[in-house]
Amino acid sequence: MSIRILAVNGSSRRDSLNQILLDVAVVGARIAGAEVTPIPLADYSLPLYDGDLEAEYGLPDGAHALQALVAKHDAMLIATPEYNGGYTALLKNAIDWISRPCNDGSSGVALLTGKVAALVSASPGQLGGVRSQTGMRAVLDKLGMLVIPESFALSHAHQAFDVEGKLKDENVERLVSGVGAALYRTAAQLA
Ligand SMILES: Cc1cc2nc3c(=O)[nH]c(=O)nc-3n(C[C@H](O)[C@H](O)[C@H](O)COP(=O)(O)O)c2cc1C
Repeated sequence: MSIRILAVNGSSRRDSLNQILLDVAVVGARIAGAEVTPIPLADYSLPLYDGDLEAEYGLPDGAHALQALVAKHDAMLIATPEYNGGYTALLKNAIDWISRPCNDGSSGVALLTGKVAALVSASPGQLGGVRSQTGMRAVLDKLGMLVIPESFALSHAHQAFDVEGKLKDENVERLVSGVGAALYRTAAQLA
């Protein structure tokens, strides 16, 4: 059976280390058999969530588009960069908009509930963004998502890749692509 995974990065930076890491996990998921859709969150032009804005104008087009994408996928592979010990506003803001009621009045939260997720993170620091993963795991858990135990936090990430974006350490490469593969396996078992 076909398993569709939405791959999302919480950084919109051009040379995002999290994006390079996410790409490795995406390859792992694809090799395992998943259909993966990587999306750049910045393309969805979401304003900061504001209840008055929502009440007056409804959801922005980008939020509807993200809701439709989530609805079409079985699982989410998320790179969650760490800013000041937590996840990024870009990522949380997208989740907040997705969680709001859809065009037809159905629940945005229900789109996420029951879906499987996996987390990776990369940071030049020593902890690799693991605190961001802890925070993001709690958010996804609250939304009823199943966050698998397989994850990877890449420390000293600015030194971890070669010029082609390949991880220098083969063991790390295996573990990161293993996160994507584990996400595929779990989603397939639940489907
Ligand atoms: C506002 C800000 C706060 C940051 N705080 C942390 C932090 O708490 N822990 C950490 O490991 N790195 C921190 N960093 C460094 C980021 O992890 C680093 O810039 C990383 O490369 C961002 O991800 P990206 O390369 O995917 O854009 C911070 C960076 C910024 C801009």
